[in-house]
Amino acid sequence: MATENKVIRCRAAVAWEPGKPLCVEEVEVAPPKAHEVRIKVEATGVCHTDWGFLYECGKGMKPRPFPLVLGHEGAGVVESVGPGVTAFSPGDKVIPLFLPQCGECECCLSPKTNLCLKNWEKTQQGVLADGTSRITCRGQQIHQFVGVSTFSEYTVVPEPNLTKIRADAPLDRVCLLGCGVATGYGAALNTGKVEAGSTCAVFGLGAVGLATVMGCKAAGASRIIAVDVNPEKFHKAKTLGATDVVNPKEHSRPIQKVLVEMTGGGLDYTFECVGNTTVMRAALESCRIAWGTCVIVGWTEMGELSVAPIDILLGRTLKGTYFGGWKSVKGVPVLVEDYMSGRLPLDEFVTHTLSLDEINQAFDMLAGSKSIRTVIKM
Ligand code: APR
Ligand code: ZN
Ligand code: ZN
Repeated sequence: MATENKVIRCRAAVAWEPGKPLCVEEVEVAPPKAHEVRIKVEATGVCHTDWGFLYECGKGMKPRPFPLVLGHEGAGVVESVGPGVTAFSPGDKVIPLFLPQCGECECCLSPKTNLCLKNWEKTQQGVLADGTSRITCRGQQIHQFVGVSTFSEYTVVPEPNLTKIRADAPLDRVCLLGCGVATGYGAALNTGKVEAGSTCAVFGLGAVGLATVMGCKAAGASRIIAVDVNPEKFHKAKTLGATDVVNPKEHSRPIQKVLVEMTGGGLDYTFECVGNTTVMRAALESCRIAWGTCVIVGWTEMGELSVAPIDILLGRTLKGTYFGGWKSVKGVPVLVEDYMSGRLPLDEFVTHTLSLDEINQAFDMLAGSKSIRTVIKM
């Protein structure tokens, strides 16, 4: 390729400092180093976590180094590969993964978890294995959000943070399998392990919560109660499988009391898809004693979750999920197959399609609960 081994100048949405809108800038993307892959990003979803790292930095989220390029729900095509890369070639369609699967670490070798801690500390600090990022702007290093950075026309990711998908997959849809939809769907199937005939409640009906509803339905749940403070979310939740919808604002009693009463003692499975510790507690208290399972899906990095010991002592289980329990490199292509064969809807999730120049609008709509997912087409 004409660009191989060369720096690529392209456009990216740079977050210069917390709390300020993104600026679309010309950046330089260096060639991939050993065991890295440079990709042309074709499409990226805009996730609540991207927004949170910018606008809740030091509040809901721990501070990360700025400036950075956000974005972690993308899909693209391999442009070039660094030395030692064997699994990818230029032209491959790929999905970058904020959660790697190195295949070699203690976690990757265990069937008990999907967590892979390869380069974890580095990528959390916005750099790759050698401690630097591949993106610069006017000579300044720009950090790569969770080692990925899909709000850029080109990016470089470590080989274990990438998976190859089938050549006919539409990138402006399957990009959602890089985070939100995979997370929610897997939370129900892999982490909750929802059983046929069981009762479920899902708190928060953004892309993550709606995908959880979809997972509960795929598992054969008999009742799926969808909970959100925004009633505009209810129609889509019903389309994807919710049997009941509840708005906590319409009740004077705590939502957990309402749900326990509605179900004659509580739910078999509850899922928190907001990232709010008060809602997490409500989700735990909504599941039934003896065997109820509460799965925390929503992301927050500050505050504490207080739990009354009796809520656990009587047999409830409290679990968390990361990327829906999918071992990422192996799991995402399977989800792409599920989409292509019509088993896993993704089109329902895309409420808006915008260009990179309009990315701040996507954030505004997400924060204002006006969109499910905006897909940015590069
Ligand atoms: N009770 C119920 N629903 C609530 C509440 C509440 N107290 N507060 C907010 N919500 C709803 C919002 O109305 C919105 O519909 O939660 C939903 C959150 O959706 P999005 O903002 O679109 O977020 P999403 O991308 O789905 O992510 C949800 O998962 O990955 C994490 O960081 C992400 O923590 C976030 C969560
Ligand atoms: Zn690993
Ligand atoms: Zn995300």
